[in-house]
Amino acid sequence: MSTPKIKAPRGTFDVLGEQAQERATLEARARSLLEGAGYERIETPAFEATELFARGVGESTDIVRKEMFTFEDASGRSLTLRPEGTAPVCRAYVEHGMHKRRQPVKLWYLSSFFRHERAQAGRYRQFWQVGAEAIGSDDPAVDAESITLLATLLGEMGVREVRLRLSSLGSAATRAEYREKLQAYLRVNEARLSEDVRERIELNALRAFDSSHEGTREVMRDAPRLLDQLSADDAEHFAEVRALLDAASVAYEIDPTLVRGLDYYTRTVFEFTSDALGAQSGVGGGGRYDGLVEQLGGRPTPGIGWAAGVERILLAGDGGHVATAPVDVFLALDGAHARRAAFGLLEAARSAGLRAQMELGGRSLKGQLGYADALGARYVAIVADGETVLKDMQDGAQERIATDTVVHAVLRGLRTL
Ligand code: HAM
Repeated sequence: MSTPKIKAPRGTFDVLGEQAQERATLEARARSLLEGAGYERIETPAFEATELFARGVGESTDIVRKEMFTFEDASGRSLTLRPEGTAPVCRAYVEHGMHKRRQPVKLWYLSSFFRHERAQAGRYRQFWQVGAEAIGSDDPAVDAESITLLATLLGEMGVREVRLRLSSLGSAATRAEYREKLQAYLRVNEARLSEDVRERIELNALRAFDSSHEGTREVMRDAPRLLDQLSADDAEHFAEVRALLDAASVAYEIDPTLVRGLDYYTRTVFEFTSDALGAQSGVGGGGRYDGLVEQLGGRPTPGIGWAAGVERILLAGDGGHVATAPVDVFLALDGAHARRAAFGLLEAARSAGLRAQMELGGRSLKGQLGYADALGARYVAIVADGETVLKDMQDGAQERIATDTVVHAVLRGLRTL
């Protein structure tokens, strides 16, 4: 009997070929967009003290209650594979005294995260997020800029049927007051609620808006809305965020029932969905977390940010119009003795900034031309002993030229595109 094969764990995947290309394109777009807007790249550890997420994300959230990969190290300390990036970034902000820098401190990341969820299309146990956090300012322009950047990124990645839902949760105090009102309303209507919602009236009443249970949905239709109870300050802040988004022509819908699955949010919250995704329609989301830094031991510091799922962006997008296998020139060998001349040419082409590849598989000349075609090469240089035939793969034109003029000819050809 043969040895059993080992497979990747449930909810995980290998990144291969074209997917690696698309991811690289997304990363390049995100870097150019976010760094252009003053965001600096940050990397935090793949695991953190469990306490960070319990305190930061919230004990009552699904993430902390049932989705964390938690383990003990040899000395019995509880560690958790990061389920999200905001709490770690705020931890780093406090740990490195970033309040001393010019505010807001803007940080972006593209990293993998871990949640023990039921795996299905678009929902994985290890997934990637691109995220951006701006910490240290409560100016509504930071909110509007943050949201606009994600809208732009999704646009650049060709994400289809995007909708932006927007709301405000107010300050922690408004929320606490509202929570009591909502809890009272839910208790009066308890009999019509799902068991899950009933159990969480005390712990997390807001999640009742998220329920798909028919009876609960009916009850929630007439429930008091947080958006109607905002303090004057919060209402004004929210009005300004909306006015700025209008000024930037970013389309949004106000959704007073928008609840995000993490506890740290205050004031602005938002979510981008794509109807092209089906059940897992959330492409990215975020909001303000004006109390989080303080909760993690820092001084009171406002913050706002978002994260978007890399897999979902690629599922719902066109990959950012990547030309697969972008090869400027493929060097084919006309006889084995051409190898050294071609190798010298390969080096010269790459030094000149061309994306060049040469034959490495011992194929016949015909096989090499087929291979170059499959790579999508723009030019093929068929290198012989003394001279080279340069073939333009777009129009089929060929010319015989000296081997040391090939790089120049390709550069000239590409520029006239
Ligand atoms: P989140 O809504 O939990 O927010 O996740 C953001 C995005 O990550 C989702 O919209 C989705 O695209 C993707 N995502 C989440 N879970 C999975 C999964 N199991 N498989 C595939 N993709 C997934 C946060 O994580 C917050 N930290 C966002 C934030 C940043 N808020 C403020 N700053």
